[in-house]
Amino acid sequence: MDFTTILILLAALVGGFFVYKNFFSKKKVNVDSDSDSDSDEGTAEEIEKKEFTLETLAKHNNAANKIYVSLKGIVYDVTENDLYAPDGKYNMFAGKDATYNLAKGTFDAATLNKMDLTGLKRSEKEEVDNYSEHYEMKYTEVGWLKEWKKSE
Ligand code: HEM
Repeated sequence: MDFTTILILLAALVGGFFVYKNFFSKKKVNVDSDSDSDSDEGTAEEIEKKEFTLETLAKHNNAANKIYVSLKGIVYDVTENDLYAPDGKYNMFAGKDATYNLAKGTFDAATLNKMDLTGLKRSEKEEVDNYSEHYEMKYTEVGWLKEWKKSE
């Protein structure tokens, strides 16, 4: 065996190891997520989503019971963000549907849980969509708001 052959064999061995390692670790993640979930398309972080009512959502307004905010009827877990904590700037949205307020950029308590969006301008609806995208990226979705479906 000459030196070049040894080098080629070595490179093949190292390359093969990395390919195998990559393949193997990906497979392991899939197996783990499968065993965690009954769903076929389940990902590793998949959680069971559930239905909230305005009443049950309202209880999720402090870290001890998790802080949830609904946006267009989709409920997100925002507990990690102190802005929603009892002394936080956005605490008024904790346990509420904040759609209308975020569309208008208002802290008016009277429009919390307001689900009739028919009067909103196009730009205000776009504002909500931007927030939805932000929440989608940042937080875990934990369920949906029962009353929202009725209002659409
Ligand atoms: C002078 C006015 C405002 C300032 C300086 C301000 C500042 C900020 C800042 C710095 C953030 C990013 C915080 C972070 O990600 O850690 C933020 C996020 C946010 N702001 Fe404001 N804001 C203002 C007005 C408003 C108003 C009027 C509303 C709604 C009525 C609002 C709702 C929100 C929401 C929902 C977030 C997203 C928080 C999250 O990531 O969950 N803000 N704001």
